[in-house]
Amino acid sequence: MAAPDGPPVDDPVGEPVGEPGGEPASVRVELADRAYDIVIGEDLLANAGSYLAPVLARPRVVIVSDDIVAKIHLRPLQASLDSTGIKHDAIVVPAGEASKNFAQLQTLLEQLLDLRVERRDTILALGGGVVGDLAGFAAAILRRGVDFIQLPTTLLAQVDSSVGGKTAINAAQGKNLIGAFYQPRLVLADVTALASLPERELRAGYGEVVKYGLIDDFAFFEWLEEHGTAVLSGDRAALRHAVAVSCRSKAAIVARDERESGDRALLNLGHTFAHALEAEGGYDGRLLHGEAVAVGLNMAFALSTRLGLCPAQETERLKRHLEAMGLPGGPERFNLPGLTPEVMVHHMQQDKKVTDGRLTFVLARGIGQAFIENEVAEDAVLGMLATALQPIST
Ligand code: GLY
Repeated sequence: MAAPDGPPVDDPVGEPVGEPGGEPASVRVELADRAYDIVIGEDLLANAGSYLAPVLARPRVVIVSDDIVAKIHLRPLQASLDSTGIKHDAIVVPAGEASKNFAQLQTLLEQLLDLRVERRDTILALGGGVVGDLAGFAAAILRRGVDFIQLPTTLLAQVDSSVGGKTAINAAQGKNLIGAFYQPRLVLADVTALASLPERELRAGYGEVVKYGLIDDFAFFEWLEEHGTAVLSGDRAALRHAVAVSCRSKAAIVARDERESGDRALLNLGHTFAHALEAEGGYDGRLLHGEAVAVGLNMAFALSTRLGLCPAQETERLKRHLEAMGLPGGPERFNLPGLTPEVMVHHMQQDKKVTDGRLTFVLARGIGQAFIENEVAEDAVLGMLATALQPIST
């Protein structure tokens, strides 16, 4: 992928990538004719036109954003598109998880049709996971598919939701239950954009960053123990490294299992528990997805330890790190008074990984050693949850 001022760095791994202001890093998602680049660097939105131009089928885009992100990032993006001769319109949806519903999807699709979006046009998703999932799903089904590009502006979206082609809206029955696998043509992860992110959201996104260390990269977890504070204080080089390593990890998993028939489920470490917590919270902002993931990661490790698979010190080490980074160790701070082990299990039964009524869990033998397990006794899950939820019931 050509950058405006030279080629991006291809190997983002190892030591922190470059100095602030250095060349962007590039990670390729190898998916044959649907392969694409994730470009990670600074001031990418302000230079977006130069990155987009070679990828667009024709120079016309519709930007989909939310009312908070649009106030900050829409103008600079539009200016960059103007300067490269790319025609653009913008659609702004209300910020928040509640926008991932049928009504908003219908409104968005009708707005796109009113703008006469054609098959060779491109939808730009400018925002966090909600905008990416909603705009991506709209792109997947509008005229049976138009191109889309992800411009993620949250840490969570940069390291997870903008990469890999999962698009969806929520149903009353649970999160992300209606959607499609639909890959973007390009992802621009501009770490400069993270400077405007509320501190709580940056921290929540960190839950997904830690996940990559836990799955198969112990060295990255150690790096995070040392540099997590720098990441959360907005240090550009630390952010670039954290985003680049996370994207490299995700890209490798997506390339070998795009549609989650195997390894991709590893990316759901902690998510079965997290989605149950979010469903109980009714997506009303009491808990952010990344916060729920942090609790879910602790639960996945606690379950692994209860099953005799993971040394207790590893589970404690994870909990210590998440708490040191200001993330919740358990669900008690979320104000979910009706939460019991049985209620959690009820929500978990709606999980997309339920097969023949049985849940699949992602467990771990230690930090960096996650694996997929279909045979977990419900008693063990209920026992772990009873301990984890004790602070709520007492
Ligand atoms: N967020 C998990 C995945 O993309 O598979």
